[in-house]
Amino acid sequence: MKKSTLLAPPESTTLLAQMVQRLPLSDTHFRRISQLIYQRAGIVLADHKREMVYNRLVRRLRTLNIDDFGRYLALLENDANSAEWQAFINALTTNLTAFFREAHHFPILADHARQRGGSYSVWSTAASTGEEPYSIAMTLAETLGAGPGKFSVHASDIDTQVLEKAASGVYRQEELRTLSQAQMQRFFLRGTGPHAGMVRVRPELANAVTFARLNLLAHEWTQPGPFDAIFCRNVMIYFDKETQEKILRRFVPLLKPGGLLFAGHSENFSQISKEFYLRGQTVYGLTKERS
Ligand SMILES: C[S@@+](CC[C@H](N)C(=O)[O-])C[C@H]1O[C@@H](n2cnc3c(N)ncnc32)[C@H](O)[C@@H]1O
Repeated sequence: MKKSTLLAPPESTTLLAQMVQRLPLSDTHFRRISQLIYQRAGIVLADHKREMVYNRLVRRLRTLNIDDFGRYLALLENDANSAEWQAFINALTTNLTAFFREAHHFPILADHARQRGGSYSVWSTAASTGEEPYSIAMTLAETLGAGPGKFSVHASDIDTQVLEKAASGVYRQEELRTLSQAQMQRFFLRGTGPHAGMVRVRPELANAVTFARLNLLAHEWTQPGPFDAIFCRNVMIYFDKETQEKILRRFVPLLKPGGLLFAGHSENFSQISKEFYLRGQTVYGLTKERS
């Protein structure tokens, strides 16, 4: 074996070193990234999120073979319609969710649906990877029956990547740990062979849920409605008060009389908007209907 071959690092090692090399993220570039995601999605990035922003965006830079945040920002800003904008947004959203998250909401939803006639409709406004809208759909199927026209769930999110996963309805079995055996059997199909350990939402349930991209900041919302209930959970926390207030005002005509608005555990809508009053733990009604 030649000496040079012995001493030279294998090509893959050199490549790896280049891959893990830290790229500088200046204050100016971090501030610009914060401004751009605020303008596009309403998301406020505090200074302590800098490392998170770096880790998420550096993957985009590496995919695009760009070694400088300035060049990446120029690529975005030179073309307002660049497809990279969606990838930028997808990279900076936080999508943490779970089936039956904030479990106390689901018996309230079931009681509400039981009391109202007609076809019950729900909007899940920040649906992420689908656990929330499918949990709503399971609750309504158990309460109202699963026949067509009994209920519908419209699910939206700004992030196209999570919507893709949501629409596929495929999850790892361990993600269903908050479901009962009966719910697993009734609403999910188990994967076999190479798909062992995976589950898929049964078509009967999936058919009641529609998915669409919707930016809560957009001037026009192209969603159906009005709804019996709106779920807006764990997304307002990323927005400032002004944005939250604007969004809440736009929910008002989208709720049917007697409709409910569900919030996340750390979100207080009655403090932000006079249009909503607290009816129960993080569940709101329209103030104009308060008796
Ligand atoms: C933490 S997840 C919450 C998911 C679910 N609602 C829950 O409580 O488990 C927040 C979601 O809000 C979405 N989001 C962030 N900004 C948004 C915007 N401007 N319009 C619509 N969705 C947005 C993100 O993509 C993300 O999937």
